[in-house]
Amino acid sequence: MSRKSLLVTGIGELTVNDPQAVDNSADRAGRRESRPEPASNTAFAVEDGKIAWIGLAIDAPAADEVLDVAGRAVIPGFVDSHAHLVFAGDRAAEFAARMTGTPYSAGGIRTTVAATRAADDVQLRANVRRLVHEMAAQGTTTVECKTGYGLTIEDELRALKIAKEECDAATFLGAHVIPAEYADRRADYVDLVRGPMLDACAEYADYVDVFCERGAYDEAETRLILDAAKARRIPVRLHANQLGHGPGVRLAVEYGAASADHCTYLDDKDIEALAGSETVATLLPGVEFSTRSPYPDARSLLDAGARVAIATDCNPGSCYTSSMPFCLALAVREMRMSPGEALMAATLGGAHALGRTDIGHLALGARADFAVLDAPSYLHLAYRPGVPLIHSVWKNGRKSVST
Ligand code: NIG
Ligand code: FE
Repeated sequence: MSRKSLLVTGIGELTVNDPQAVDNSADRAGRRESRPEPASNTAFAVEDGKIAWIGLAIDAPAADEVLDVAGRAVIPGFVDSHAHLVFAGDRAAEFAARMTGTPYSAGGIRTTVAATRAADDVQLRANVRRLVHEMAAQGTTTVECKTGYGLTIEDELRALKIAKEECDAATFLGAHVIPAEYADRRADYVDLVRGPMLDACAEYADYVDVFCERGAYDEAETRLILDAAKARRIPVRLHANQLGHGPGVRLAVEYGAASADHCTYLDDKDIEALAGSETVATLLPGVEFSTRSPYPDARSLLDAGARVAIATDCNPGSCYTSSMPFCLALAVREMRMSPGEALMAATLGGAHALGRTDIGHLALGARADFAVLDAPSYLHLAYRPGVPLIHSVWKNGRKSVST
């Protein structure tokens, strides 16, 4: 049975992000940025969860329901393409210590591993749902979620199954850190991850990820795990160049990763490699904020023509925010992205990072995932940081949040 159709009218400003127009303007060495139209005369119709018509309101087709948004701005829902939501406990004390001078290190992950192993499935699922709900209330309509706080076959498998059921994309991150019990047998743990653990998890993994970093996995270990993923035809993505310069970005490009995430420390060769590839540079400015680190050089990446995404990296250690609007405001203020570039990166950029062509935009045929803002323009997302500007959120043509 087909679902009720919906007509959205009274739009003050509409951001469509038509992927074809975006790529054409990028080809002409223009900026890859959202360019909304003042849209007082524009309306769009949704049928069966998709954008079925878009045009002048006076030409609009009849619909079962009409949503008059009374001059508000409408944007594509945010695509949060990097998050770690399957965990228990928090690390507020670690954050407080950081703010008074203790540097962030990958070792803190082990604290969350212990708490996560001790939690039952009901607690873990409830935590994911709580955070997905927080994200939705802030305009996010697509969420990627990683494992990485289990680090045994059983604990990684249950985390991956929960991620798969509760989120839109599930990433296996058995190679997050080396667990404490393998501290002096690193090679054995790498063999476990790329062998039996990946065998158990492969069926549920949309992606395989590795934290390629000092204090986590080195280049040789990362290669072994990426090779194992490739052998099973599972696409890969990498945590790369977060804590210092290193081989992560280069490996991500070499392996055709969907994304290289963090990119905090880049040299010219890394930027050139990303710009010449399909690998998306996923920037996570909430991490730099929460770890008091320098922000990534978004300007050089964008100016070189790299595809850029913005995501939250929501996790209890390096960045415990679920707010895409907050990350977008940071990208504008701290990384010198234009507001349009930041919105593009937080929507269509995230969609590219997840290999999705049906989301991140509102062109004809797209999934009807959109947010109505309590503001006349999307510019207010960065202009009014910290202010709850989400009026309502629609996922697949259905209202998922209304405030
Ligand atoms: O993306 N860098 C690796 N993983 C997470 C941090 C996880 C943690 O500190 O618990 C990140 O920043
Ligand atoms: Fe991460």
